[in-house]
Order: sequence, then structure tokens, then C-alpha cells
Amino acid sequence: MTPHERIAQLRTELHRHNHSYYVKNMPEISDFEFDRLMRELQDLEAQHPECYDSTSPTQRVGSDITSEFVQIAHKYPMLSLGNTYSFDEVRDFYERVQRTLGSEPFELCCEIKYDGLSISLTYEEGRLVRAVTRGDGVQGDDVTANVRTIQSIPLVLQGTGYPREFEIRGEILMPWEQFDRLNREREAQEEPLFANPRNAASGTLKLQNSSVVAARKLDAYLYYMLGDSLPSDGHYECLQQAAEWGFKVSPSMRKCTTLDEVFEYINHWDAERKNLPVATDGIVIKVNSLAQQRSLGYTAKVPRWAIAYKFQAEKALTRLNEVTYQVGRTGTVTPVANFEPVQLSGTIVKRATLHNADFMDNLDLHIGDMVFVEKGGEIIPKITAVDLDARTFMMGEKVRFITRCPECGTSLMRSEGEAAIFCPNDTTCPPQIKGRIEHFISRKAMNIDGLGAETVDLLYSVGLIHDAADLYNLRIPHISRLERMGYKSAENIVRSIERSREVPFERVLFAIGIRFVGETVAKKLSRAFGSMDRLENATFDELIAVDEIGEKIAQSIHRFFANEQCRALVARLKEAGLQMEVVVDESIERTDKLAGKSIVISGVFAQHSRNEYKAMIEQHGGTNVSSISSKTSFILAGRDMGPAKLEKAQKLGVLIVSEEEFLAMIE
Ligand code: IVH
Repeated sequence: MTPHERIAQLRTELHRHNHSYYVKNMPEISDFEFDRLMRELQDLEAQHPECYDSTSPTQRVGSDITSEFVQIAHKYPMLSLGNTYSFDEVRDFYERVQRTLGSEPFELCCEIKYDGLSISLTYEEGRLVRAVTRGDGVQGDDVTANVRTIQSIPLVLQGTGYPREFEIRGEILMPWEQFDRLNREREAQEEPLFANPRNAASGTLKLQNSSVVAARKLDAYLYYMLGDSLPSDGHYECLQQAAEWGFKVSPSMRKCTTLDEVFEYINHWDAERKNLPVATDGIVIKVNSLAQQRSLGYTAKVPRWAIAYKFQAEKALTRLNEVTYQVGRTGTVTPVANFEPVQLSGTIVKRATLHNADFMDNLDLHIGDMVFVEKGGEIIPKITAVDLDARTFMMGEKVRFITRCPECGTSLMRSEGEAAIFCPNDTTCPPQIKGRIEHFISRKAMNIDGLGAETVDLLYSVGLIHDAADLYNLRIPHISRLERMGYKSAENIVRSIERSREVPFERVLFAIGIRFVGETVAKKLSRAFGSMDRLENATFDELIAVDEIGEKIAQSIHRFFANEQCRALVARLKEAGLQMEVVVDESIERTDKLAGKSIVISGVFAQHSRNEYKAMIEQHGGTNVSSISSKTSFILAGRDMGPAKLEKAQKLGVLIVSEEEFLAMIE
């Protein structure tokens, strides 16, 4: 067998095993054997680059080449569905279909409504050529490279008889198990949590780095085939055929003819859906015959041949054990309900936020109450009501908001007209101190990696740090002596603290945590005033004269600098060598060589990083924009600019400029 033949054989075999594992859930060989075949193919492909094929099973691992997404127009618009929450409206739908079709008999196809993000896949000659998100329904993002990493999506079809070209649509999902794992990891890294698997899936698919996408293990169910020569007039039958070609099609699809059958299906899955590995939010009911679908047609927005019945948010009844209180970085105290653990939408929950004192009072909670807990598409469950019928004369104690801070004992306060109750002790209340330090080191602030909430906690508890400035006095032996800390990690932390001295002023300004001064405001202030000294001395009028700086922010800045301790902290950070003013890189002179030009950057560059190019564009008066349009002046193109982007540029006649040409332009 020639290497080329072996490559082809391995590809076919690996595609088949992938399908058995990820679609049928019936692996035929061990993971070990699978890895061995994969490695053999990888080696052969490396030796024979002429055999490169974007649909090879080896391509599922993704790549870290960053590329921006190109917008692609959908051949058929991607519409949404009409929604209903009641059986009566399902009946109306049924009767409407009946009336429109006259005396014709019709079948309905009931299927689960998956709660992810919709995707449109195009296959040509049995190969996946394009994957596009819904976008605005008319055009979406080309996310092919990311979609290729989803194991249950076939890159090459099996069997025969598929149309030469067709589209198949479905839902990309992050299974509950992956979602929980991802959020646990993000929590450990102190990154914001995804609210639900839908957001997680859509955030993942928009990542620029497809190897990260590959690691997140997305899944996909396909539910709609479109094209000129489909295998059958029946929607259900088309999808069963698609399953034969290797697509993952929901096994729960059912054909029904009567309304009772439809209701039975809905009731069954409303109860059963909690056992599914992915999020669902309803049932879709479709007229099965494609010819009948055509004669029913569309309204302006939705098909007349289908409807979505949405489930009520999943609820559970459980016993309230205790209300605890959390103190945040700004001192806000949040009440948290702790109850008997219950299973809700695939996960076990035992806590729910009670938001604030008003919310809690309105519920009139008593310890031991039976409460309704709901998880409506969001990760944080809420308590929606108390089951008053379950109360007996032995009612537990009424829950009253605490009056002293649970962390430092200070009397709590409430600002007039605000719902939040807070601990005013911002100088010695531990969660406030730790919270401020955590904010200071976070990625968008000083970006000190290696240090997380746990380490801050540890350093604080042994008395090594009391505020952000103390970080700059830490030495390796201080840290390496601590529990669970080796020399290596101590060294990393110290090095990354060292590096933070280079962080530009605008991020230092964000990091010091002036209330209401977020990332964007910090940028604006740093541009307007240029240094900490000038900001500190700015008058109220000077502050509000800056675009988007209002009275609330101006007051907060004045309050910050009026505080002795805050001023002392800033002084010590300055002494530690942090950037306290905007640094203008004198070596690059500012010109208007690119004035009025909007420039798209695309591809991978050899001489400078993408960020450096962005800075150069700005330094020469140009604007960096993210997507190509007829207004784009030119594209600064590196290696591996995506073919779709290239096509778009050519279609719009936008000039493509190489790295060298660009550098010559600004010389
Ligand atoms: S059919 C023209 N079937 O729900 C109708 N959609 O609310 C095409 N969805 O955008 C859609 N499961 O993202 C269909 N079994 C299913 C579905 C489904 C989930 C999503 C889809 C669509 C949205 C509409």
C-alpha cells in the first residue's frame, strides 16, 4: 500500500470510529487503539504535506492561528420560530394548519427544542465546506474552523446518495457536564462564569483559537435539511437519512397525526428532559411534508408550518435551612438562601441569591419554609415564592436582614434610595481588602498571573499583604514558605508582579478600584489627564468636561483622592515603580499618513504583532476596524488570511496591502 492509500484508509476508518463514539455512543475500538491510528495518520500527513485536507480527522484538534470571522450571506434566510407556552395555542396552530390544507391529511413531526445556538452547515460532494452562525438571519459569521473541531459533526459523509450540495441546520450545544467543568475552571481562574450552556456554547464558537474550542467539547444535533434535491418529501425521513450519512439527529423525534399524540409527547419530554445531557427549552412541532410546508409558507418572520412550545422554567420545592450573607469587594452585603439540595435542570443546587433586603422582605421568608426554586436559563437559581400551604403553626423564625457585618462586625448602612446594604468599613473589613487586591491583580487590571483568590487569601491571612502595594514587597522566600507553594510558583508570582510595573497607566488607574471607574472610564480619564497627579488635582468641572464622565463618577474620583488612605496607597504604588502617567513612545513619531483611512487587519504577521500594528495605525491617524465593508480603505494582510475574507475583499474591490508595503507606507 502506498502512503497515499494508507492515508485515505486511515481517514475513512477514523471518521467511522468518530461516528461510532460521538454520534452512536457505541465505540468499536479502545481509546488506545484510536489514538494509535490517529498518531499514524498524523505522522503520515506530516511526511506528505501534499495530502493536506481540511476534512481529515486530524484537523479536529484545531489550531491557534487567529483569524477574524468573515460574514457570509445565508443562501436561505435563517428564521426563528413562533413561540407558545400553552396547549390552547398549540391547538390553534393545529387547526390553522388543518384549515389551510383543506381536506388533505397531514403528519406532524415533534422534536425537542435544543437550547444552544443555531448553525448552518453546507456540504459539497459529501464534505463539510462551510459552517455559518445565524447572525442576523440574513448573514452570519463563518466559523468553519471552530466547527470542524466538534467531534459529532461529520467532516466527510458516510454511505451514498447524498445530494451534491445541501445545507443542514442544527443546534450547537455545550453538554451540562462540560458546562459545569468549564465554569469550575473559570471560577478557579477567577474569570466570569457563563450564565448558561447556551452562552457558553456561543462564547466558545466565537473564540479565535480553534484549539481552545476543541478542548471545550461541544456537541451538535441537526434538525433541518435544505437543498434542491433532498432524499424525501418528509422532513422526518430526510433526517433519518441524514443519520445514515453520519449526522447526529435527535433520537426523540416522533411523527404524530393527532393533537392528543402531540400533547402526550410534550408531557413526556417536559418530565424527561431533566435526564438529557444537554439543555432544552421546549418542543418544536413541524408539518412533516415538505410540499405541505411550502404551501403553508411563511409570515414575515416565522414559518407557518412549525411552532415552538416552550417549557415553563424548571421549578423545585425545597426546605430553607439558613440565610447567609456575602460581603463583596465594594462592601455590598448580599443575602444567600441555603436550602436542602435539589436537582434542577441537570445540576444539583443548594444555594440561591436573595439579591437584597427588599427582595428578601417581599418573600417574607421564615427558616424551615418550603420554597420554590427556579432556574430559568440562568445559572444562578432564584427563589420565586414560598409555599404558604406548607407552613404549620410551628413556623420557624422570620428571616431579618443582619445589622452588623458578618466579617468585621461593623454596623451596616444603607444609602438613601438604594436597595443595597453595605459595610462602611472599607479599611479593615477582610473581604473588602481581599476583594480590592483581587481586582488589582485581575487580568484586565495589572494582570498578575499565578496569583488567584486562594493565594491572596493565604498571603492576607499570614499577614504578608494588607493592600495592593504590599505585593511589591513580596520576595520569593516569603511565598515559597507557604503551604502548597513551591519555589517555582513563588518565582512565577514574583516575576509576574515585577512585570506588572510595565502595565500602562490606564490599567493602573482601573486597578486601584475607584468606584464607577471601570475599564472604559479609566481609558478616557487617562487620555484626558495623562497622569495620576493631574487627575488627582482635576477640579469637578474639569472632570465632567470629559466625554462620558458624569457627576457620579466625578464625585467618586474626588471622594477617592480626599481619602488619606487611598492617597497613601497611590503614593506607595508610585514608589513601587508603577506607571503613573501615559508614556508616549517618542521613537515612533505621530503623523497623519493614514488619516481618514479605515483599515482591517487580517492573518498572521511576521514582523510585528497584531497589537503593534493596531497601535501603528492609530499613531499615524488611521482607524482599525474589524470587518470588511465597501468603506474599508485597505486590508493589512498577513499570512493565512481566510479565503472567504479574500473573496469578500476582491468582490468589494478592497485593496490588500502586505506587511512590507504597510511599513513602507508609514516610513
Ligand atoms: S427548526 C424555520 N428545530 O430554535 C425553522 N429549531 O426559536 C427552523 N431550535 O433558531 C428551526 N431546536 O436555533 C428547529 N428541533 C429544532 C430546534 C430548533 C432548537 C432553535 C433554532 C431556532 C430557534 C427558534
